[in-house]
Amino acid sequence: MTDAVRIEGLHKSFGAVDVLDGIDLSIGRGEAVVLVGSSGSGKSTCLRCINRLEEPSSGRIFVGSQEVTGKKVDLNAVRRRIGMVFQGIHLYPHKTAVENVALALRKVLKMSRAAAREKALHHLAAVGLAERATFYPSQLSGGQQQRVGIARALALEPEVMLFDEPTSALDPELVGEVLNVMAGTKAAGMTMVVVTHEMQFARDVADRVLFLDKGRILDQGTPGDVLVNPRHPRIRDFLGRMSKH
Ligand SMILES: Nc1ncnc2c1ncn2[C@@H]1O[C@H](COP(=O)(O)OP(=O)(O)OP(=O)(O)O)[C@@H](O)[C@H]1O
Ligand SMILES: [Mg+2]
Repeated sequence: MTDAVRIEGLHKSFGAVDVLDGIDLSIGRGEAVVLVGSSGSGKSTCLRCINRLEEPSSGRIFVGSQEVTGKKVDLNAVRRRIGMVFQGIHLYPHKTAVENVALALRKVLKMSRAAAREKALHHLAAVGLAERATFYPSQLSGGQQQRVGIARALALEPEVMLFDEPTSALDPELVGEVLNVMAGTKAAGMTMVVVTHEMQFARDVADRVLFLDKGRILDQGTPGDVLVNPRHPRIRDFLGRMSKH
């Protein structure tokens, strides 16, 4: 079976700066990979290249058997297969939770109004928001809003989910509920690439942790290998700084 994601020789530069300096990575189906590394190491750029929000300077990326870096690729079709959740929460403020999810289904998958609503309710229930489905974003906590965002992405049945620091804008007491939903997504078999500073989540949920340093993979392995007994001084420094937060 083909890998869920395969990245070959990915380079990205902004002007003279090599932000990604040769990333090679294969991610198996159902695998959860957590990317860690200092600010500016290229984590977000790497995620954004996978769904072509960022144009790679060179290298190839495959999602399933399709090359998303192919010249004639339909970007909308590519992005339909890749769910993404960011730090900020982007819900339509004048639409309820269920309308936010259903709108994506109607627009992207061209579902009927009734079918979209039913599916949206199902996915909201799956993230624990059945009772809040008709609330507006302003009536939801940051953690609940972020769970609506995850439900919206999952409702489109992507092959891969990309998470870029989905909890870093939340009050500390709201972080856990979002991480729990992400852990449930992994348990349901979703392939995931997660950028996070939540080291406990990485230890509990990641199949593999990658440490990015100056646009390269400095180390990778099980959470135990990379985070518990780090081989590299740079990783030890990084973890030391993290634990002081
Ligand atoms: N559109 C852009 N134009 C120019 N430089 C950029 C652009 N996007 C990112 N960069 C630079 O690329 C480098 C890597 O950025 P990136 O956002 O991928 O890092 P990161 O690892 O996600 O950092 P953080 O932990 O702060 O989110 C940084 O030096 C950043 O300034
Ligand atoms: Mg980032």
